[in-house]
Amino acid sequence: MARSDVFSLLLLLLLAAAAADAGTVKSFKEEKRNVGDQIWSLSLDASTSKSSDMAALHENLDVLHYSSDSVTIFVRKTRLSITKEFLEGRHLAYNVVEKDVALHLQSLQAAEDAVAISRAAESCKEGQCPRPYKQDYMTFEQMEWFLRDLESQYPDNVKLSTEGKSREGRNIYLVRVFQSSASAARSSGSVSSRGQPRPAVFIDGGIHAREWIAPATVLNMLMKQTENCAANTDCDYEYYFMPMMNPDGYEYTWTNDRFWRKNRSPPPLKNDCFGTDLNRNWNPQWGNIGSSSNTCKEIYRGTTPFSEPETTSAKNVMTRIANNPELDLLVYLSYHSFGQLVLYPWGYTSDLAPTKADLEKGGNVYNNALKGVHNVPYVVQQAAELYPASGASDDFAYSLPIKYVYTVELRNTRSFLLPRNEIALTFEENYAGYMALLKHATSQSN
Ligand code: ARG
Ligand code: ZN
Repeated sequence: MARSDVFSLLLLLLLAAAAADAGTVKSFKEEKRNVGDQIWSLSLDASTSKSSDMAALHENLDVLHYSSDSVTIFVRKTRLSITKEFLEGRHLAYNVVEKDVALHLQSLQAAEDAVAISRAAESCKEGQCPRPYKQDYMTFEQMEWFLRDLESQYPDNVKLSTEGKSREGRNIYLVRVFQSSASAARSSGSVSSRGQPRPAVFIDGGIHAREWIAPATVLNMLMKQTENCAANTDCDYEYYFMPMMNPDGYEYTWTNDRFWRKNRSPPPLKNDCFGTDLNRNWNPQWGNIGSSSNTCKEIYRGTTPFSEPETTSAKNVMTRIANNPELDLLVYLSYHSFGQLVLYPWGYTSDLAPTKADLEKGGNVYNNALKGVHNVPYVVQQAAELYPASGASDDFAYSLPIKYVYTVELRNTRSFLLPRNEIALTFEENYAGYMALLKHATSQSN
């Protein structure tokens, strides 16, 4: 081979390597998800914003955002004509805001990449994933690497377990974070050595697949809590984290449809509508208002309470913790997005929960601490005031009973597509809320 040929071969190899690299970094790639899907905006008149009509809209449409006079909806390509008919039947005018969601995703990515740090700055491999990302969203596989590495890095403070498998066979992970036995023994006169139950908290994220900021926040909370326990500070509870309750749906949002909400259960009828809404599949009040028996709906509740392996796994763990005489399960937090809300039970009815005053107080404690960090406003309210929805995890948790129960809708107030430079900020403010709530809960119970 002539010298110049060797040179051009080397150059080719270099270029190929650079291209492969760009592929893993996932920038400027052609968007394959949501091709032909659309986003529409409907204008509402006073008569349609009645709550009964709003319930019908929530059942039949995938409502992304609404205000008193307009509603933004996501319309999958396969449902364009059926949605058009539905709206025309109700004399609702609409206009198309995004006529191809794939292009929309692509331009958002480009805009973000122009202002955020390079995606290459945060990357991890199997066996080398010591921290959750703060600057980018992680794939499910990366989350798995991180969880395993966390346990091997902190064997005295972390126990990772698999509490079941998703419908498609992915692991449902539980992470228990605790004070090391050495430091527990040192702090004589501690709660546990007096033989009283230790306070416990259960936290989940990722029930809804497209709400990417939720697992991202929970993973960062889990990391921070582990570091605290390893340093023997702020580690008075037993901490249980289920950071990814819906791995199949989450994976699907990376590969096929960024707006997927449900799990990926195959349809019981032989139609082509997959998925159960994992936040409509719980008891008590399963099958009541704000859920649907139609498999094609976004709020499809499943065939029976806990028909889904994902909700069954979470329910079993929560019940086990609640029934453990050595533990006092005081706090439940379920992370979702978006809306900047701290919601407390009931969610299935606007009737007041028997301990509404305590729930509201705890919500305000969370929110005040949160607001002190970046001064971002969240609103504390009863879940059903947003819209009544039955069969959600919060009403189950409250019925266990757990005293302090919240569904937190994270940033922002417009979109599931939260820019990655807000991951760290969202985590920071919510970690402050979480810490304050946990302190409040134990101060009230002693
Ligand atoms: N966005 C959440 C959902 O639709 C809110 C759930 C609040 N809880 C409730 N029981 N309504 O699942
Ligand atoms: Zn949600």
